[in-house]
Amino acid sequence: MSDAGDQKTKEQASIDDKFFPPDAIVERAYVQGLSGYKDLYERSLSDPDSFWSEQAETLTWHKKWSSPICKYNLNIENGPVNISWFDGAETNISWNAVDRNVEAGLGDRVAFYWEGNDEGVERTVTYAQLKSMVCRIANYLKSVGVKRGDDVTLYMSLVPELPAAMATCARIGAIHSVVFGGFSAEALADRILDSTPNVVITVSGTMRGPKPIPLKAIVDEALQISEGKGHTVHHVLMLEQLPLSDVGGSMKAGRDVTWREAVDSQPDDCPVEWMPAEAPLFKLYTSGSTGKPKGVLHTAGGYMVGAMVTTKFVFDVQPVSDVYWCTADCGWITGHTYVTYGPLLLGATQVIFEGVPTWPDAGRCWSIVDKYKVTIFYTAPTAIRALHARGDAFVTRYSRASLRLLGSVGEPINPEAWRWYYEVVGGGRCPIMDTWWQTETGSHMITPLPGATPLKPGCATLPFFGVEPAVLDEKGNELQGPCEGILVIKRPWPSMMRTVAGDHKRFEQTYFSAFKGYYFTGDGCRRDSDGYYWITGRVDDVLNVSGHRIGTAEVESALVSHPVCVEAAVVAVEHAIKGQSIYAFVTLMTGSEPSDALRKELIATVRKVIGPFAAPDVIHWAPGLPKTRSGKIMRRVLRKIAACEEDQLGDTSTLADPSVVQQLVELRGK
Ligand code: PRX
Repeated sequence: MSDAGDQKTKEQASIDDKFFPPDAIVERAYVQGLSGYKDLYERSLSDPDSFWSEQAETLTWHKKWSSPICKYNLNIENGPVNISWFDGAETNISWNAVDRNVEAGLGDRVAFYWEGNDEGVERTVTYAQLKSMVCRIANYLKSVGVKRGDDVTLYMSLVPELPAAMATCARIGAIHSVVFGGFSAEALADRILDSTPNVVITVSGTMRGPKPIPLKAIVDEALQISEGKGHTVHHVLMLEQLPLSDVGGSMKAGRDVTWREAVDSQPDDCPVEWMPAEAPLFKLYTSGSTGKPKGVLHTAGGYMVGAMVTTKFVFDVQPVSDVYWCTADCGWITGHTYVTYGPLLLGATQVIFEGVPTWPDAGRCWSIVDKYKVTIFYTAPTAIRALHARGDAFVTRYSRASLRLLGSVGEPINPEAWRWYYEVVGGGRCPIMDTWWQTETGSHMITPLPGATPLKPGCATLPFFGVEPAVLDEKGNELQGPCEGILVIKRPWPSMMRTVAGDHKRFEQTYFSAFKGYYFTGDGCRRDSDGYYWITGRVDDVLNVSGHRIGTAEVESALVSHPVCVEAAVVAVEHAIKGQSIYAFVTLMTGSEPSDALRKELIATVRKVIGPFAAPDVIHWAPGLPKTRSGKIMRRVLRKIAACEEDQLGDTSTLADPSVVQQLVELRGK
């Protein structure tokens, strides 16, 4: 392997667009060289029992598993889909992530450097402090009756108490459901109604950049909505940040308690519940192509092993010397696996940041990198593009000398953004781990390994251990060699979701009905002559806006909840920073006139029903929508109109009323 920073590598890179790992990265890596990767990968497929046992044994189990290590059926034609890993075993992920480090004498090691929204606001939490925080929250939860198998909803900003509260639920066998603090009261209420918790944990309110976010007030409204629909939450625990008198929200006597009165006084010792490997660990709601968001359910043992193994190999985390920073919020799967669980399972020291990368200016990330000497930095392409747009000076005014590894997640990273990230942020010496995975997969699936995989800008490269991808054509035939098609996975991996909470049929329908015997990812991909996988984006009606996954059906149903909107059709258009932005075609009731005020009202409706991040950028008035004779909306046609490419409409012979197209073109921009 040659040094990516030297001249030879650069020339080589311009010839075949490959970036080789620098020697310094290879020397310390857990997996060295492509052949090292290939050997282990082959073994992970040919002898999964021995491969996964070896990995799992690096963690603590109260009871060992029986053989085989994985039992499954992925083919609905052979009966219900089921997946189980580490059957018969018992463990506790919270014990492994927290207590285990303290027992190993690492109580004084920093678990979290917390950086608040505003500069100068910071806290440090050691593993010993984390353990006592977790135990005190656990004792509070137990005091209000939470027990194994109960649901708890978390609606918080990114403070250390959030990962601590997640680990607390896991400690006592409760199931956490974290709802991202950007969701609206109605969206939070929907999630509460689905998982029916008796306790909600929240924060009074916080600043995101220059904007106050009234989290408690949103919880108050959500609980009122859910009560109106038949579910009452009896306990709300609130961490005080901004005073309620400033940010809004109130305390309801008998239901709401502050952290200070309810948690701080609890004993800081609490036994763990040893849980079966297949006990539910958490639900995380995510968008699909149809209907309401689904609760993706992950279980204790397999998820724990997947989170630990990928964090270790993909980021080559060396707990003694690394300072790791993943910028994700715990409200998304990246925050679950690569903030809360993966790094703690390895006893790593990490930075967590409550603010946004552009506050108070676009240099904030690099100032934090220098402040804490961050060595591993993991973020989303949308953030990289937003920072790139602000210019290099915000980056180069900081040293960033501590960085050795970069990561990307959430959407395809365009080669231009990749190169800027590599050359400017990483100074040409830090390999980029472009990690493809999903809420459903629980952990990385297709990703480079730092000391093993030559990189190609914009490419997620090769499958992780135990992951067997395939590319299918539309009829479900497996394609061989270089090809382009639909990405599926042929066998289960430990951190695979087990079901949709409360709706196993929907799980089978969504992921296993299109192609029998395979897990359907919803993504398209291209495989090149090196066997590298290039993710090309969703093949279903799911949008990816700034790395946030949003279903077209959800936005459409929010729009039609407005009294004058009869019908709506939503498509994605390319966006330079957000990757995709939301473009909505809206048909109004007869007698309603389009106006700017109405446009604003419709956007406000989406913000209210889902959250600000799902707001359409464009509302296109549509007296009619292009439909087939059977009434199906032809989104392909709408996508072309939105992108000003109506000269490339393709076959429109199935349109019921072809004149609609011209009408829509004329109304564009009106
Ligand atoms: O389309 C893929 C895209 O994000 C989807 C999963 O979204 P979500 O469940 O919210 O999880 C995001 C964080 C893992 C995928 O189906 N995606 C995620 N990572 C990548 C990606 N697309 C291309 N390259 C990636 N590295």
